[in-house]
Amino acid sequence: MMRKFPEGFLWGGATAANQVEGGWKEGGKGISVSDCARHHLDVDVENYKAHNHITSKDIEEALASDDDSLYPKRHGSQFYYHYKEDIKMFAEMGFKVYRMSIAWSRIFPNGDDEQPNEAGLKFYDDVFDECAKYGIEPLVTMSHYEPPLNLVLKYNGWYNRKLVGFFETFVKTICERYKNKVKYWLTFNEVDSMIRHPYTTGGLIEDRFPGIKWNQVIFQAMHHQFVASALATKICHEIISDSMVGCMLTKLTYYPYSCKPEDVLQAQQDMRGTYCYSDTQVFGEYPAYLLAKFKNEGVEIVKEPGDDEVMKKYPVDFVSFSYYMSSCSAASSEGLDTAVGNTVTAVKNPYLPSSEWGWQIDPIGLRISMVDLYDRYRKPLFIVENGLGAKDVVLPDGTIDDQYRIDYFDCHFKEMLNAIEIDGVECLGYTSWGCIDIVSESTKQMSKRYGFIYVDADDYGKGTYKRIPKKSFYWYKKVIETNGACLFED
Ligand code: BG6
Repeated sequence: MMRKFPEGFLWGGATAANQVEGGWKEGGKGISVSDCARHHLDVDVENYKAHNHITSKDIEEALASDDDSLYPKRHGSQFYYHYKEDIKMFAEMGFKVYRMSIAWSRIFPNGDDEQPNEAGLKFYDDVFDECAKYGIEPLVTMSHYEPPLNLVLKYNGWYNRKLVGFFETFVKTICERYKNKVKYWLTFNEVDSMIRHPYTTGGLIEDRFPGIKWNQVIFQAMHHQFVASALATKICHEIISDSMVGCMLTKLTYYPYSCKPEDVLQAQQDMRGTYCYSDTQVFGEYPAYLLAKFKNEGVEIVKEPGDDEVMKKYPVDFVSFSYYMSSCSAASSEGLDTAVGNTVTAVKNPYLPSSEWGWQIDPIGLRISMVDLYDRYRKPLFIVENGLGAKDVVLPDGTIDDQYRIDYFDCHFKEMLNAIEIDGVECLGYTSWGCIDIVSESTKQMSKRYGFIYVDADDYGKGTYKRIPKKSFYWYKKVIETNGACLFED
């Protein structure tokens, strides 16, 4: 029997405005949190704390500096200027879907403006029209690390309830404007990342909350995003009747380091630590174990009347997630090796290889994750991020031989099909992360490349920004063309 993916499977790629667009001051755009995120190549690329712990002083310095080379998300990959060429290349690969985000600060430069910025709205009109030209369906993330900076400085970010209202206005505006162009939406990218990088996700700066427990700040901000996500789902359904709205979870998959019950228990706890957020968004209420955690840690969520009802009434239609790696859990990590990963550290799995950045490569973990999520939620899944960050080399003849990336995808795709065919998982589609090279979120490096398309720029933003298809570009094109059948050819 010839094996291939289900008819209509949405193959494509993914980016986020803050990492790909550049043009940080173009067309009336306001400054976002990401425009003030400095890289620390001089410190240590694996030191996530250095990259993600932002202070008020850091913001002052960022605002005083016009130097794009220190703030890589200001230049991104210059999609803002190259989008026609980029979408054309996506179409050449045969993309059915392109996951992207709308920068809130292009539409409402300060976040609390009375009126939207027409030039910003027009930019995304043009992007969607370009996609439509090639029959590419946009999948749009409403918020991917892009709160306008003004909302941080004036209101203390998502800790402030007012953000819910500002976000509602933003969502109404984009849904009205793009109602005939966008059907698939995601509310908050990796809503759980509030815990790992509260500044980027929630606009929270610790030194602005003297006297308040940091955990309290984080979970209160997250509560506001849960309510805002439910309201966004409501708005989207009201304005676009056939729309599909998803949540987006960082799928951190943990295995017990051994079969010692203590390790198994630790793995279960760690898994709950990632599921609790999608549980909330899918079931429309905080799970009992998250409420217990709040109680045990003395966190008291301040709710407004109606919050619980809104969350219950407007859960998501599908479950999307990022998957890059898995790791192990042990009751005691003493004497065990540590693995770094997507802004987390955990116990290293001795059976798995790692990427150049120490992320443990585990294709079977993708199948396990899909089965777990589908069994838990019984809602369609969408894999919206997956891929290999690697250092690519342009050969003297101008080509890029990224066979390692092809090997990575090849085994992940086969496991994805196993989950669909053998385990009965419903999966709407797959968008590889950073389908064109973009600035890394955790380290802000350009040299951590994920793309099928090479962008000629270095970590300091220097380069021609010329686009070059890598070997994987032609390989992915064939995968899409044959709907995965070529994966099983000799
Ligand atoms: C996900 C984020 O967590 O991981 C992306 O949604 C990010 O924004 C991606 O880029 C990969 O991480 P990194 O740090 O390699 O860019």
